[in-house]
Amino acid sequence: MTKPIKRIGVLTSGGDCAGLNAVIRAAAFRAIRTYGWEVFGIVDGTMGLMNRPLQYRTLDMHFFTGNHLREGGTMLGTTNKGDPFNFPMPDGSRRDRSGDFVEGVKLLGLDALVVIGGDGSMRIVSKLCAAGNIGMVGVPKTIDNDVHCTDTSVGFSTAANVVTEALDRLQPTAASHHRVMILEVMGRDAGHIALNAGIAGGADVILIPEVPYTLEGVADKIKEVLHGEGRSHALVVVAEGCKTAEGDVPTVSYTGGQQRYGGIGHYLTQQIADLTGAETRVTILGHVQRGGTPSMHDRLLASAFGVHAVDLVAQRKFGRMVAWRDRSVIDVPLDSVTIGPRSLDPNGALVHTARGLGIYCGEFGEDMESPRDCCGGESI
Ligand code: F6P
Repeated sequence: MTKPIKRIGVLTSGGDCAGLNAVIRAAAFRAIRTYGWEVFGIVDGTMGLMNRPLQYRTLDMHFFTGNHLREGGTMLGTTNKGDPFNFPMPDGSRRDRSGDFVEGVKLLGLDALVVIGGDGSMRIVSKLCAAGNIGMVGVPKTIDNDVHCTDTSVGFSTAANVVTEALDRLQPTAASHHRVMILEVMGRDAGHIALNAGIAGGADVILIPEVPYTLEGVADKIKEVLHGEGRSHALVVVAEGCKTAEGDVPTVSYTGGQQRYGGIGHYLTQQIADLTGAETRVTILGHVQRGGTPSMHDRLLASAFGVHAVDLVAQRKFGRMVAWRDRSVIDVPLDSVTIGPRSLDPNGALVHTARGLGIYCGEFGEDMESPRDCCGGESI
C-alpha cells in the first residue's frame, strides 16, 4: 500500500530572486490548511539535507507573520554552487555526496520535496531525487527567465521592472548631459531581461546573446538618433552574455575560482565613444536586479505555483514542474525542462516589436533559427 503523505520539504536552490518567499508561503499554506501536512523548510538548498546536523525550519502557521509575501530573497537561504554529485571538498578534491542528500531526506521523514529552482537546480535535484526514489515537484524561478516550458518564471518580472526603472532614471540624466548611457544587465546566456526591459524602458539599442551585432551597426543607430533625428542622447541595453567584436564574453573572477559574466558594458562604452564621438557612461546593475520587493506579477505567479505544486504532491504526480502557459497553471515533465537554458527566440514577437520600433537588436539574416524549445512560449 502507498504510504500517505504527511510531511513535505520545501527548498530553494540556485541564485535567489524576488518572489521565492511567496512560493514557500503558498506551498506551506496549501499543505497545512488544505491537506493537514507538516512542512519543513530546508536551509540553504541541498546543503541543509547534506549537512549534519540537518538544517531545516518547521514552517507552521505561526511562522508566517504576514511579511513573507512582500519580502525579497529567500527566508530559507540558497546556494548556486556545490553540485552534490561533484562536491568540492576542503582539501580541493571532489566527492559524490548525493548519498548524504538522500539520507537527509529519509532522516527527516519527508514524503516528498517541492524544489524551487532554475534549470540547473531542476536538473541536479531531480537526479538526486531519482537516485533516492524521492517524489519531487519543481517550481521554476530565475530572473533570467530561461527555464523551458513556462512562459515565465518567478523573479523575472521583478528583475525586468528594476531594469525598466533604471532606464527611467538614466534617461533624464542622459538627456541633461547629452550622453549615451550603456546599461549592462544580467541574464547569463539569454537576453530575456535585456529585451523585455529594453523595450519597456525606451532603449535605442538592445544587444542580446542570441543575435550577433556589429559595432558599426550600433554606432550607425546612435548616429542616426543623435544626428539624423536630432535627439541629444541615447540609451543602450546590453545583456551580460554578449560577445565582444573579437568573440569573447568578458568575465570577472571571484573567490574560489568562480567566473561570472561581466564587463561587456565597459567594452561597449569605449567602443561607442570611439566610433561616434559621443560622451558615454556605463551602469552595471548586477545583483540589484535580484533583490527588492516582488512585483504583483511575481507574487501572483508564486502563489499559483505554490498551490499547484502541493496539489501535484497530493496527487502523487511526481517528476513534474509547474508552469505558466496561456493564462493557466499547468505542469510538465521535469525531463522536458532539464535540457539546458531556454534562449530567446530571434524570430519571436518581442524581437519583431523591437525591430518594428526601430531599435537596433543586431544583424538579422534570413537564416536566423529559432531555438529548440520543448513547449514554446514568449517571455513576458
Ligand atoms: O542566474 C541568475 C544570475 O543572476 C545570472 O543572471 C547571473 O549571471 C548570475 O546569476 C550571477 O551569479 P552570482 O550570484 O553567483 O554572482
